[in-house]
Amino acid sequence: MKLNKIFLAASMLCSANSALAGEVEVLHWWTAGGEANAISVLKNMLEKQGYSWIDFGVEGGGGESAMRVLRTRAVSGNPPSAANIKGPDIQEWARLGFLTNLDSVAKPDHWDDVIPKMITDVMKYDNHYVAVPVNVHRVNWLWANSAVFAQAGAKIPTTMDEFFTAAEKIKAIGLIPLAHGSQPWQDATLFEVVALDVLGARDYIKAFVDLDMDILGGEKMIEVFTKFKRVRSYVDNNSPGRNWMTATSMVINGEAGMQIMGDWAKGEFSAAGKVPGKDYVCAPAFGTAGKFTYNVDSFAFFELQDEENFKAQKALASTILDPKFQEIFNLNKGSIPVRLDMDMSHFDQCALDSMKDFKSSAQTGDLVPSMAHGMSTAGYVQGAMFDVITNFFNDQSAVPAEAVQRLAKVVKSAM
Ligand code: BGC
Repeated sequence: MKLNKIFLAASMLCSANSALAGEVEVLHWWTAGGEANAISVLKNMLEKQGYSWIDFGVEGGGGESAMRVLRTRAVSGNPPSAANIKGPDIQEWARLGFLTNLDSVAKPDHWDDVIPKMITDVMKYDNHYVAVPVNVHRVNWLWANSAVFAQAGAKIPTTMDEFFTAAEKIKAIGLIPLAHGSQPWQDATLFEVVALDVLGARDYIKAFVDLDMDILGGEKMIEVFTKFKRVRSYVDNNSPGRNWMTATSMVINGEAGMQIMGDWAKGEFSAAGKVPGKDYVCAPAFGTAGKFTYNVDSFAFFELQDEENFKAQKALASTILDPKFQEIFNLNKGSIPVRLDMDMSHFDQCALDSMKDFKSSAQTGDLVPSMAHGMSTAGYVQGAMFDVITNFFNDQSAVPAEAVQRLAKVVKSAM
C-alpha cells in the first residue's frame, strides 16, 4: 500500500514534469525505412531533454499530401510546432504571419557562421530566422545495381547516350532498365535531370527560377521533352502510382538496373544493409557530373501561444543543428550535413562525393535548386509545371512542342 502510494506520487510528479517541459508536434513525410530511422533520431534526442514528441507523419513521397494536411490545420488555427516546409514556400508562410522568430536560438548557436549563406537566406524572413535547415540532399543521382550491370555487361553511364546503351543491355537480359514510379513529383524529378543535362546550369536557372519565357517556351525545351520521352521508354508499364521506395527496392533486389532519384534513396540501400561501391553504385545522373541539384529539408516553426511549448520548440530548433544530430540523422537519411564544419569521417563515398561537388559547384555556377522538390519556385508555380510534365509522361502520343507551349502558358498564368 505504502509502496503503491510512493509509486503514484512519483508517476504524478513525472507526468507533471513532462507537462511542464512542453511538447513538440512535428509534421513530416518521412515514413520510408531510412527516413523513419532518421526522424526517430530527433525524437529520441528531444525526449532525452525531457520534452514530449507528437509525431505527425503524413505518408506520401515528395510531401504533397503533407502540405495539404498542413494547410488545413494551419487555417483552422491549430498548426503543429514545426513542419518540413522548403524553399520559397517558407517566405509565403512567413508573409502570411504563421511563423515564429527563432533569433534567440540562432544567435547563441551561431547559425550564421556554420551554415552557407545561400541557405540561411532562405531560412530568414525580413532578416529573422523562421526556419531551420536539416540537411542537403542532392537530387541528380543515378543508383545502379552492380550485379545487374555485371550480368548485362553494361557500363555505368556518364552521358545520356551511354544511358541508352546501358538501358538496352539491361533490357536484353530481361530486366527493367529504369525503376520509376509515375507520380507527379517523381516524373518531375526525372524531368529536371534531363533538363539540367540539356539546358546546362545557366539556362536551367533561367527556366525554373527566373521563369524566363524564352527558355521555358524555347527550342531547347522541346529537346528536353523529346529526350525525356526517350528516357521514359525504359520504364516498365507497372509504374503508375508506384511509390519511390518500391522503385528503389527494385534496384536493391535486382529486378531493375537503375533509378534516378535524390539521395534519400541511399537511406533505403543503407537500411537494407547494402554497401556503396560493392552492392550498388551512386553516380551523378547522366550529363550532370560536377553539377549539383540541391534540395534542403528544413523545418519552419509556427507561432504558438503556450510558453512551455515555445521552449520545447526552441530546444527542437537547437537540436536540429547539433553536430551529433547532424551526423546520425544524415547517415540514416542519405543526405549530407548542412553545417560546413562537420567531421565527415563516418560518411561513405557517396556522401563525400556529394559534399565535394556541393562546394565546388557553388564556385563554378553549377549549383542549382531543385524544381521538383520546391527549391526553385513557390508551390503554386511548381504545381503548374508538375501538371504539364506528368500529363506528358503519361500520354504515349504527346508531342514535345505542344507540351512546351503548354508549359510556358501555365507558368505565365500561375505567376
Ligand atoms: C524530401 C526528402 C524526402 C523525399 C521523399 C523530398 O521532397 O526533401 O526529405 O525523403 O521527398 O519523400
